[in-house]
Order: sequence, then structure tokens, then C-alpha cells
Amino acid sequence: MNYTKLKKSNFEVSTIGLGTNTVGGHNLFQNVNERDGKDFVREALNLGVTFIDTADIYGLGRSEELVGEVLKEFNRDDLVIATKGSQNFTNLDDVKTDNRPEYLREAVEKSLQRLQLDYVDLYYLHFPDNVTPFAESIGELARLKEEGKIRSIGISNVSLEQLKEANVHGDISVLQSPYSMLDRSAEEALLPYTIENEISFIPYGPLAFGLLGGGFTKESKLEAGDWRQSVPLFQGEQFIQTLDKVEQLKEFAVSKETTLPNLALAWLLAQKGVDAVIPGGKRKERIRENVQASDIRFTREELSLIDDILNK
Ligand SMILES: NC(=O)c1ccc[n+]([C@@H]2O[C@H](COP(=O)([O-])OP(=O)(O)OC[C@H]3O[C@@H](n4cnc5c(N)ncnc54)[C@H](OP(=O)(O)O)[C@@H]3O)[C@@H](O)[C@H]2O)c1
Repeated sequence: MNYTKLKKSNFEVSTIGLGTNTVGGHNLFQNVNERDGKDFVREALNLGVTFIDTADIYGLGRSEELVGEVLKEFNRDDLVIATKGSQNFTNLDDVKTDNRPEYLREAVEKSLQRLQLDYVDLYYLHFPDNVTPFAESIGELARLKEEGKIRSIGISNVSLEQLKEANVHGDISVLQSPYSMLDRSAEEALLPYTIENEISFIPYGPLAFGLLGGGFTKESKLEAGDWRQSVPLFQGEQFIQTLDKVEQLKEFAVSKETTLPNLALAWLLAQKGVDAVIPGGKRKERIRENVQASDIRFTREELSLIDDILNK
């Protein structure tokens, strides 16, 4: 496993981290098995993964609780725990994005309780509410940082303009945005801004939410209640065309004596500005395979051949 420093922080993360929206994520996926979820986290930590990504909304607090239970088996000081908040789920019938300082403070306290931690290393504003000025929401996170409840501030699901506004005082250490071989839109503006402004870019959906796992066929159907039904890559003609590209990438992976998911993760890590990846998964076999991406390197020619496939 390789490790790298998160920008504007003095702590290191494993370049292969772990996404945990399936761990207790009953509101996002059908038939989530909590024991498998805990095994998935435990296996990652045993393999040298030190960067765990969760959020309060995953399973409405359940992901944080399960992650917290596993963390107790390990040395907390060796780990970098990231969580996110902004989805006010106090009223389950009416989940609202809420960036008010008083709500964020309450959300941080609740996350710490569920995770059974005194502090989190990274706290993301999960979604902008498009009402509360960033001076107020990020200002409150900066105060929580001063108080030692969070060690660094991240933001997710923002446009370039929003990121600039949120980072006006240079408070943002990490941007989490969609980025994968199959969705390179971040390269247009967000990624360059993070490179210029000393912000770590952590892609979410690094395996295109499973499409770059290689197990989908044209006949595959997502279960009812699977949040990915709202993702364009999984819809209609785009899904069919994407699978053709996935087949070519699979062949390329074989020629490089690796697997498609490892190719996809290593390719992201080869992009300037990307400091770590946080692939998700439902079972421990997934992370056992994914940690191997940490050691894969590309020649310039290989990156250019991959570009040819992706640009077709
Ligand atoms: N900030 C945000 O708004 C936001 C949004 C989405 C996600 N996230 C975070 O980003 C993390 C990663 O994104 P993601 O989990 O949605 O998508 P992802 O990592 O792109 O894809 C995860 C899917 O890929 C499959 N997979 C993983 N490893 C595999 C392997 N070696 N071989 C074959 N298939 C494999 C898993 O399938 P199985 O389920 O079958 O194991 C899993 O469902 C999340 O867990 C979450 O922490 C953040």
C-alpha cells in the first residue's frame, strides 16, 4: 500500500481508501447485509487501508455506527476517518439539505457519537443547500476545526463557482466529486482549480458506481430502490454504449496483466491532483482485489492508448 499526505493537513492517507455507502446503506441499496459490511471495513483496515469515507446519510446513520464498531478493533491514531453532513434527516419523511451553522454543528456532534470518536479527520459539507452563504456554513466548520472536533474541511457536489466561494479563505482541504474513466467532466474546471489551490481531489464513483467492476452486461437490471437508477450511465442507450467501452478497457487490462477495476483505480491515481480513491463494495473480496491497484504504474504510451479508448 502507498500513502500520501492530504493537502493542507499533516496526516497521511492510504492511496486506496474505502467508500462505505453500501455499509448499512439501506436507504441506497436493497438487501444490504450488515455483517458483510463490517467485514468489508475490517478487511480493508487489515490490508493497510487507513482512509475510510462515510456520511451520516448512508443508512441514516447506520453506516457511521457500523464503521464505528469496527474502528474500535484498531488503533484510531493510525486512521483517517472522513464523514459528511448536510442532509437533515431528523424528520424521516422529509429529508432536506440544510447548511445552517446550527444544523451542521448538531450533525457533527451526532456523527461523532455514532462513530464513537472524539474527532473526525475530515468533515465534508455533503451538498450545498443553495440558500446558506458558504461564509456561514464553512465558517462554522472552521470553528469546529478550531475546537478540535474536525481536523480538516472538505466539500462535495459543488460547481466551480461554489467551490471558489467556499474556499475564499483557503479553508477547503478536499473536494469530493464524481470522476472516473467513464465520467471525465471534472477535468474541465474542478480538477484544475484543486491543483492550483492546494486542494486534494478525491473522486467518488471511481468505478463508475460498479460499471468498471466489469460484471454488468446488456441484460443487467438494477434492483428497485437502487439509487444508481438515477445515474445517466446506467440508463438506456448510454448504458449500452458504455458497456462497449468497458469491454475494450477490459481487454486493455488483460494486456497489462491486471483487472478492469484495478486499471480504473490506478488510472485515477495517475491523474495529477487525485491523491486517493475510495472504491465502495458490498463484500471483503472487493477490497482485497482493489488494494492491488496501489502499485500499478503506466507508461506515457499506455495512458495515451487508454485515452484513445475513452475518447472514441
Ligand atoms: N460525495 C458524494 O455525494 C458521494 C456520492 C457517491 C459515493 N460517494 C462515496 O464514494 C464511494 C465510492 O463510490 P461508490 O461506492 O458509489 O461507487 P464505486 O466505488 O465507483 O463503485 C462501487 C461498486 O463497484 C463494485 N466493485 C467494487 N470493487 C469491485 C471489484 N474489484 N470488482 C468488481 N466490482 C467491484 C461494487 O459492487 P458490489 O456492490 O457488488 O460489491 C460496488 O457496488 C462511496 O462508497 C461513498 O463513500 C460519495
